[in-house]
Formats: sequence, structure tokens, C-alpha cells
Amino acid sequence: MTQNSVIQKNSTHNAMTESRMTQTKMTQNRGAQNPVTQNPLTQDPATQSLRVRLLIVDDEQTIRRLCMTVGESLGFSCLEAESGDAALAVLESQPVHMVLTDLVMPRMSGLEFLEQMKRIHPRIEIAVMTGHGSVETAVQAMKLGAYDYISKPFAPLDELRLFLRRMADKVRLEEENLFLRERTETDAAVHGIIGNSPGIQNVLRMISRLKDTRTPVLISGESGTGKELVARALHFRGNLAGRPFVAVDCGSLVPTLIESELFGYEKGAFTGALRSKQGLLQSADTGTIFLDEVGELPLEMQAKILRFLQEKEVRPVGSNHKVKVDVRIMAATNRDLETDYKKGTFRKDLFFRLNVVTISLPPLRERRSDIPILAHWFLERLAPGRGIQVSGEAMKTLLAHDWPGNVRELENCLERAVALTDRRVLERDDLPASIMRMESQSTPQLHAMQETSSFTTTDLEDIERATIARVFLQVNGDKARAGKMLGISRATLYRKLKRYHIGAHAESSGAATLQ
Ligand SMILES: Nc1ncnc2c1ncn2[C@@H]1O[C@H](COP(=O)(O)OP(=O)(O)OP(=O)(O)O)[C@@H](O)[C@H]1O
Ligand SMILES: [Mg+2]
Repeated sequence: MTQNSVIQKNSTHNAMTESRMTQTKMTQNRGAQNPVTQNPLTQDPATQSLRVRLLIVDDEQTIRRLCMTVGESLGFSCLEAESGDAALAVLESQPVHMVLTDLVMPRMSGLEFLEQMKRIHPRIEIAVMTGHGSVETAVQAMKLGAYDYISKPFAPLDELRLFLRRMADKVRLEEENLFLRERTETDAAVHGIIGNSPGIQNVLRMISRLKDTRTPVLISGESGTGKELVARALHFRGNLAGRPFVAVDCGSLVPTLIESELFGYEKGAFTGALRSKQGLLQSADTGTIFLDEVGELPLEMQAKILRFLQEKEVRPVGSNHKVKVDVRIMAATNRDLETDYKKGTFRKDLFFRLNVVTISLPPLRERRSDIPILAHWFLERLAPGRGIQVSGEAMKTLLAHDWPGNVRELENCLERAVALTDRRVLERDDLPASIMRMESQSTPQLHAMQETSSFTTTDLEDIERATIARVFLQVNGDKARAGKMLGISRATLYRKLKRYHIGAHAESSGAATLQ
């Protein structure tokens, strides 16, 4: 190696060492974690229909009867009370979702009842009925927290029906969100991996079986499906939790520097090596080393990693001494390594060494039932305490999208929506236009394929290539924006651009070029 190339290598090395700080995350001595438990809920919470329980409060029996008839025709389960006191007694013993109360009643007035009820049961929605157009009292009721008001007499009756239906829709949305929030809270507390779909349940079962072993695990899945999350769960839920966890992004390490990064180097090993430096493998000693995007390792490094796994020793660059290192190995890939080793781009012996057990993460489009619960989990994390919900229409759009960037794309999409809105309920137009556009463009294509169930890897790659190319053009080659829109990490985007030969000249010309 010439003097020049060594100097060049070292200047890159400094930049890389800095950038590695963001790519390599070493976490030590985390507290003991809760064990992973199996999620008992298998039903999709978003489609569970709620039977609304309505309490009607009026001293006039005819009005109560009328409201009960309308309520029952809407499928509600109806209860009645002839006074505020009686209603409070009912609420003590019976679960109720919404209340419709008269304002003018003997003894306790409607407003008094409303105030007391809101104090004791703040979550129950209450609407008021006003007679003779007493709008002022109705406004006062709204200030005290009433949902809305409706004037008596109800003419036509359809007005009451519509009013109650709208109120029930709101109740259902609130209940559903509460349910999802409670579920995500328990799920997150237990393992940080959200999802009720059979695919995710299977992943959770595997984590719970493998977390206390030292079995090598290969985690496979498309970009953004949660591979790193699973690796961390395996480490931090298991008996290595207090030990180091070192993640290495093999895809973004400069090939010439991988060896010194992984194995370390001795002082004077090359120009600029002013002091010895421990490699990442040694930093992970007694803990876990996570080789992320392992399929990107050059063949030469694959051989060195294999030797390390066999001998459990590292020899820093420029050193004559070997150091014993005992680590659990985990690897992740979004490629099909089996195809790669058959093509000769990945070592077969290393593949078998890493792939003792595989955990496969299904893409989000194959577990759409997880979308509502994930959405609520992210909204709660992104805007804690704001109680942001997703409207039915917006949720339909989220459910219909194909999510090429998987969970990360969903997370980015909600982050953007939360940043741009001050609404409490996210509507369809709060979602990025790209989601709607991609929905209309890619869904029919994918659906057609799913129906014929004969799609091949090449078909999927074509779609991926076309999607990335379209987004890349749309953002004029701005990689940061393209990555965000696609919901994939920067490293993944670079790899994909390289693989599909997209924007090869963009760097120098500043324009997006497709090949
Ligand atoms: N089941 C899940 N529950 C909660 N959050 C999730 C889940 N799956 C993924 N995420 C979140 O989505 C984001 C992407 O996950 P992660 O980085 O683990 O994916 P990845 O498969 O490693 O992606 P890449 O291939 O791009 O590196 C993270 O913010 C992660 O916390
Ligand atoms: Mg990753």
C-alpha cells in the first residue's frame, strides 16, 4: 500500500469513526427486563364492534320511551332513569357509554346532574335535550363538558336518530382508542414489540424460547420490519441483559476499514494509528454482537468472521497476539442469503454458522391487522398525553397502503402527521400524499398478484425498484427526503439505489437519473 493511500484511508477512518458512533450502539448494564409473555389476544381489535350502552334521563315517560325505541333501533342497549339521582344510582352499578339527559327536571336539574356525573365519570359522554329553544342553558351545558345538545320536540325523528348515531360513533372511536392504548401499554411494558398478528405472535414465542440461550440467531425481513428491535429484545429480555450489546451496521462500514473496526488495531499498525484501539468484537465480550445487514460483508471479511466464530479469538490489525472473546452472535439481513450463497456472493459455511435458528419478520402488508395497534403505539410515543386518534377514514387508508418501508414507514408517516396537525383526530388529509398516491398505484398491482398468488421475487423487486425510482425522481434526488418518504434507513436506501442502479449520476450532477 502506498503512503498516499494509507493517509487517505486514515482520513476516511476518522470520519467513519465519528459516523460509527451513530451506527454502532453499545449498551451496557441495562436493568433486568420483564420476561416475554405470549399475547393472548388474537382478534383484531379494530374490527371488534362495541355494543353501545345508552342511559336516558327524563322525568317524562313518553320522552324516555321514544328515545329508547330510537336507541334500540340503532342497536344500542338502553337504560332509563326518571331523575338525576336515579341516573347516578344506575351509573354506580351499570357500565354506560353515553347519556342523554333532559335539562329541566324536578329536584336535581339537568345541569347539576351533568356536573356531578362529569366529576364521577369523566369519560362518559353526555348530551342534553333542551325544550322550548333554551339555547343559553344548552351552551352552559357544553361548557360543563356536554358532548352536544338536541332540541325537543324531535321533529322529524330522524334528527334524533342521526344525533345518537354520531354520538355513538364518537364513543366507539374513544373506546377503541382506549382499548388499543391499554393493549399497547401492556405489550410495550412486556417486550416493546407491538402486534397481535399470528406472524408477530410467532416471533414473540421464538424470542421467549431463545432469549436465555446462546444459540446464534439470524433475523430476516424486509427493511423496517423490526429486525433490530427483535435482536435487542433477545438480548435485553434474556440473561445477557446486563452485558454489552454491540450492533454493527455491516452495510455502512467502508470495506477497507471493516477489519480494524471489528478486530481493533495496534498503535502504529498504519499511519495515523497513534494509539491502540479495541475492536467492536472485543467490546461485545461476554455479551452479544449483532451483525446488522450481514449480507453486505465482503467475502474476505466473511472469512475472517467465520474464523473468529470458530476460534473465539480476535487478532487486532498489526498485532501478533490473539485475545479471547466470548460473545453470542446474532445477525440480520434483508436479503435472501440462501440465494446469495448459491450465487457465490455469501459464504455457505458462514451462512450455516449464523443460521442455526432463523426468525423471519413478515412485512407489514402481510400483517395489516397490526396497523391500528402500531399506529396508536406510535401516536402515544410521538405525542404523549395529547391523546391523538385516527379517524375511521384515515385508518382505512393506513390499512390499504402497502408499506414498502414497513413499520418504519408507518412510524415516519405518523410522525409527520403529528408534527403538521393540531387536530386530536387525524383525518385522511393529514396523511402524506405519497401514501395516498402509492396506495392507488401499487395496491391494485400487488392485489392482483396476491390473488393469483404466483408472484416471484423478481416481480416484487420490480415493484420495489419502480417505487424507489418514482420517489427518488419526485424529490429530485434528495436522498434524505427519499429515505423518509419510503420509510427506510439511509444505509438501506444507499444499498437499494446501488442495487437497482438508480440515481448513479445524481451525486455529481445534482439531478436524479434513472437507468
Ligand atoms: N412490532 C413493532 N412494534 C413496535 N415498534 C416497531 C415494531 N417493528 C418495528 N418497530 C419500529 O420500527 C422502526 C424500525 O425497526 P428496526 O430498526 O428494528 O427495523 P429493521 O428491520 O432493522 O430495519 P432496516 O432493515 O431498515 O435496518 C423502529 O423505530 C422500531 O422501533
Ligand atoms: Mg436494522
